[in-house]
Amino acid sequence: MNPIKVGLIGFGRMGGFYLEQMQKSPDWEVAYICDTSAESRQYAHKKAPEAKIVSDEREIFEDPQVQVVGLFALADSRREQIERAFAAGKHVIAEKPIAENQVSEWKVVDLAEKSGLLSTVNLYLRNSWYHQAIREFIARGEIGELAIIRVCHMTPGLAPGEGHEYEGPAFHDCGMHYVDIARWYANSEFRTWHAQALRMWSYKDPWWLQCHGTFENGVVFDITQGHVYGQLAKDQTHNSYIDIIGSKGIARMTHDFKTAVVELHGVTQTQRIEKPYGGKNIDTLCRRFAESLRSGVRDRHLPQFRDAAIASEYAWRFLDDARNHDMPAIGTPQELDAIRERRRTMTNGYGLLHKHN
Ligand SMILES: NC(=O)c1ccc[n+]([C@@H]2O[C@H](COP(=O)([O-])OP(=O)(O)OC[C@H]3O[C@@H](n4cnc5c(N)ncnc54)[C@H](O)[C@@H]3O)[C@@H](O)[C@H]2O)c1
Repeated sequence: MNPIKVGLIGFGRMGGFYLEQMQKSPDWEVAYICDTSAESRQYAHKKAPEAKIVSDEREIFEDPQVQVVGLFALADSRREQIERAFAAGKHVIAEKPIAENQVSEWKVVDLAEKSGLLSTVNLYLRNSWYHQAIREFIARGEIGELAIIRVCHMTPGLAPGEGHEYEGPAFHDCGMHYVDIARWYANSEFRTWHAQALRMWSYKDPWWLQCHGTFENGVVFDITQGHVYGQLAKDQTHNSYIDIIGSKGIARMTHDFKTAVVELHGVTQTQRIEKPYGGKNIDTLCRRFAESLRSGVRDRHLPQFRDAAIASEYAWRFLDDARNHDMPAIGTPQELDAIRERRRTMTNGYGLLHKHN
């Protein structure tokens, strides 16, 4: 079985994760790595001496041997790269969001759906063992009728103005994953919503947002997301969970980024499953993609560009809704400066910016 030749574009934090997983798997041969930063290219030489390291992505698109491109730069370059990839007949694994604005996102959805090529996007929660286990439990009828989906993800993560400027405020950059997973569980489209946000440290954009509402099928949701969780605490912590309530039982999950715990309380079964968290599940994504490519049958679990466009659109809509309500500012820019300074020198923290060393 010949490995699939892949070119990676964007070799920052996420690009590094993909390289690591692809190097471990016989499915893949990383033929190229492209990054516009000389420092990242130098790092790529060290990590992947077998790959060709380039600064111009055209070399990858023009090489007929390359079957797949991995697009892991930032949102501002994604649309063009996706267009070039499809034009060159390459399959695509993309990071989210799939473009930097909604018009471009829907353009690339259209392109992907007409291309006849395989594409997916890293909505990583869908590839996690814990959400799969909960969804299977629900499908077996154990909690009765699905009624309420409660999702919360609060960490002392990426601070405002620190990076990812093209990916939007925290509720878009990170929050779109939770918007997506709520929709995935509900198996329905958003119908109504009401969002409340707060401009922590008086930053121009909200860095905490809570939204609740309904889906077309009557399922109710609430999503809370914020990277405002004790950034200056002596010992940092986070709070991340999903809580699913049915007409008869419940299913829930929490994690500490190392271990995830799923608790299932159904009508015939009570179960507690504790397993390694699994990080961004990039191994699963890459395996499903490789298997789909080889078999010619798309793995039904692989997220579609359309899913990412919808999640992104609703994350923006919830942010817009919050701006139409009272959006207080609490905390000071000086506190934010202190947070950025602390994060610059931290070696072990939440969502720290990538340093090549
Ligand atoms: N799915 C997830 O859970 C998840 C998590 C974090 C980040 N992301 C997404 O992944 C993407 C990358 O994030 P990151 O944290 O790795 O960022 P990063 O800043 O660590 O890395 C980005 C890299 O891309 C390079 N780059 C920028 N423009 C380029 C271009 N036009 N061509 C080639 N290289 C270019 C930069 O030099 C940098 O090395 C973002 O779009 C982000 O939204 C997704």
